[in-house]
Amino acid sequence: MPRIDVLTLFPRMLDGFLAESILGKGLQKDLLSVTVHDLRRWTTDKHRTADDRPFGGGAGMVMKPEPVFAAMEELQSEGCRRIYLTPDGAPFTSAVASALSRERHLILLSGHYEGIDQRIRERVIDLELSIGDYVLTNGTLAAAVVIDALCRFIPGVLGEENSLTHESFTGKLLDFPQYTRPAEFRGMSVPQVLLSGNHAEIEKWRAARALEKTRIVRPDLLK
Ligand code: ADE
Repeated sequence: MPRIDVLTLFPRMLDGFLAESILGKGLQKDLLSVTVHDLRRWTTDKHRTADDRPFGGGAGMVMKPEPVFAAMEELQSEGCRRIYLTPDGAPFTSAVASALSRERHLILLSGHYEGIDQRIRERVIDLELSIGDYVLTNGTLAAAVVIDALCRFIPGVLGEENSLTHESFTGKLLDFPQYTRPAEFRGMSVPQVLLSGNHAEIEKWRAARALEKTRIVRPDLLK
């Protein structure tokens, strides 16, 4: 069972996320374990200071090394992967999610403010990941995104009927359109082929729609 520790200054941001939906069920079924830690637990001064002004000047604050080193030293295990969420990290993709789902122990560090002391990145981080080309106010939601995407690759987390085989990015095409009842709704009808019961025709139609959608929205995936 993959064990995941999250280090953050905003632990409550993850409360709802961990309780809900497919991930919550996976946690209940012990298919993975996620523990959220408040980094301030490893501060030692009475103000529980986790950040300080940057050497060399400049705006904003920088996360101090001491609490992060202390937290890592307490939590890390032989062979664990220590990951820092940052907009200047390597792109987080479906392939990375799948690889991480097979790790035994992950520690996800969420960064804050204008950055973190470089010595943290050099000594207690194995991998830096970005979830996209935009800047969040802190990395906690990025950690949630990583956990959500990787838990779908853990056997048993998705039900049989939700298997990964037909989904976007596994076959490098975007998804085909889906419809459910009613067949007629406010003058809009479901494509006839989907009601036909002809599975070969349905597969052909879906493949064509997926290709068309990918050409329009993500032509880069077809290269
Ligand atoms: N922290 C702030 N922005 C981020 C991003 N885009 N990806 C990962 N961590 C982040």
